[in-house]
Amino acid sequence: MTEVSSKEQNITEAVNKAFEHHSASMDELIPILNEVNKSLGYLPGEALTEISKRLHVPKSQLFSVSSFYQMLSTKPRGKHIIQFCESAPCHVVGGRQVWQALRDSLQLDANETSADGKWTLAMTSCLGLCSVGPVVVIDDDVYGNVRPDQIPEILARYGE
Ligand code: FES
Repeated sequence: MTEVSSKEQNITEAVNKAFEHHSASMDELIPILNEVNKSLGYLPGEALTEISKRLHVPKSQLFSVSSFYQMLSTKPRGKHIIQFCESAPCHVVGGRQVWQALRDSLQLDANETSADGKWTLAMTSCLGLCSVGPVVVIDDDVYGNVRPDQIPEILARYGE
């Protein structure tokens, strides 16, 4: 008898669910990856192996797609994802100072995850919100015209 670990079980369940909601076709690739990423917090190699089998696509192709899209990750990420826009329009209106405040408050650098698994600090290109830069997006919450002194209060909204 082979013992199936709970991690493997979770991965299998997440993949099964995604294929219940979407057909096994390449047109559905992004929604499938997105759903599995959402339910597991990232895309483990085992999940990509399973998806590659079901869609008959090489796993390497799934890795490329997963690395391309900001919303997908092949590494474990924090409970809260902070996206910070590093593009020029946000940079020139004070983005650099906001970025510094984020790094100081979280003690993280670009694309790092905190040891307690609470935060991932992701640097991104333009988020399409340039008119209200500097912009910080935490999960689905958008903060515009952010000043560095507001960072501790914004982070505190996400509790323990
Ligand atoms: S440049 Fe920052 S949102 Fe567009």
